Amino acid sequence: MTGKRVLLIVGGGIAAYKCLELVRRLSERGVGVRVVMTKAAQEFVKPLSFASLSGEKVQTELFELTDEVEMGHIELSRSADLLVVAPATADLMAKLANGLANDLASTLLLATDTTVLMAPAMNVRMWEHPATQRNLEALKGDGVLFVGPNEGGMACGEYGPGRMAEPMEIVAAVERQFAAGPLTGLTALVTSGPTHEPIDPVRYIANRSSGRQGVAIAEALASAGAAVTFVTGPAEHATPLGCKVVPVETAAQMRAAAGAALPADIAVFAAAVADWRVTSADGRKIKKDKSGAPPALELTENPDILAEISALPPGKRPRLVIGFAAETNDVLKNARAKRLRKGCDWLIANDVSETGGAMGGTQNQATLITADAEENWPRETKTSLAARLAERIAAWASENETAEC
Ligand code: C5P
Repeated sequence: MTGKRVLLIVGGGIAAYKCLELVRRLSERGVGVRVVMTKAAQEFVKPLSFASLSGEKVQTELFELTDEVEMGHIELSRSADLLVVAPATADLMAKLANGLANDLASTLLLATDTTVLMAPAMNVRMWEHPATQRNLEALKGDGVLFVGPNEGGMACGEYGPGRMAEPMEIVAAVERQFAAGPLTGLTALVTSGPTHEPIDPVRYIANRSSGRQGVAIAEALASAGAAVTFVTGPAEHATPLGCKVVPVETAAQMRAAAGAALPADIAVFAAAVADWRVTSADGRKIKKDKSGAPPALELTENPDILAEISALPPGKRPRLVIGFAAETNDVLKNARAKRLRKGCDWLIANDVSETGGAMGGTQNQATLITADAEENWPRETKTSLAARLAERIAAWASENETAEC
């Protein structure tokens, strides 16, 4: 970690004193730490303590940055390799989740394009409050990383989740973040889940995709160091950690979100996009006809996102485009033809017949089809398949890096 720079934002909680230890441990490892304190944090620990340990001036005020000219808040937030918020109070989480910027800490968090790692600490009821849990989900969706909170007794006398992670746990999380993976420096787009195509305000056309395979792939790519944008339809499975999550409903929205996530080096289309949508979805709930005749639903084909992105000109097209072929029969034959028809580089063929069980299940068996090879992968969990795919992508990345040199 030597030479890395961390901007530590200290929030107003009793756990703030533990951050003195955090600064020491990070400094010992060669990390340069610059500290920003909220007003409330200064009630618990004096800025001088942090300044002594970090060897840097502690910043506290948005409009009193004496060096605003040479280092404004934008510069301050971007000069770091990682922003750590500890303790991340309910208030700091709420501010970032809602885009508020009314003091130095919240302004820095909003102005940064650097990864943010939060170590929440608060009373158990505040942590469990639906508002905090909503903010937590929103922040995870925005790609914010979390360490803790831990369960245990608190300074307020209550017991439960809400204790800030120990300084060494935060150091470990920082170390994980700085450990370069084989895909560090690369960007990836992953589409996942089903799409819902409305019939009227209460009914829709959908499929059985759980989103599990897409989530596993996004997490495997993020663990390998890629910056992942995860575009997901309404899936039952929890969204991946450490990725930017873009929730959508329809194929049209997924297409727009996938387009907005470009340029990307790698694109994996794991979504089970509905092939058709209702041509003109009704604005009002369709009523049963007195005669008993069912409504006639006219369908229109949805845009093929994979084919469209595969056909983009070089420069705009991700360098590696991977599609999925969910087939129930003649799996390989159909998948080979699909790879050519869609114009993607790799195609992962899997059997979604009832015996194959990939759709909605936890296991998958796939064949990777490339321009010049076919690899039969074993039946395995979707997590294991995702790790295998990430490894193959890492091998592709290193071959391409060599080719580009
Ligand atoms: O044509 P089919 O739906 O079988 O193709 C499957 C592959 O194409 C998957 O990778 C899926 O994510 C992608 N796809 C897409 N847009 C569509 C339909 C499928 O990106 N409208």
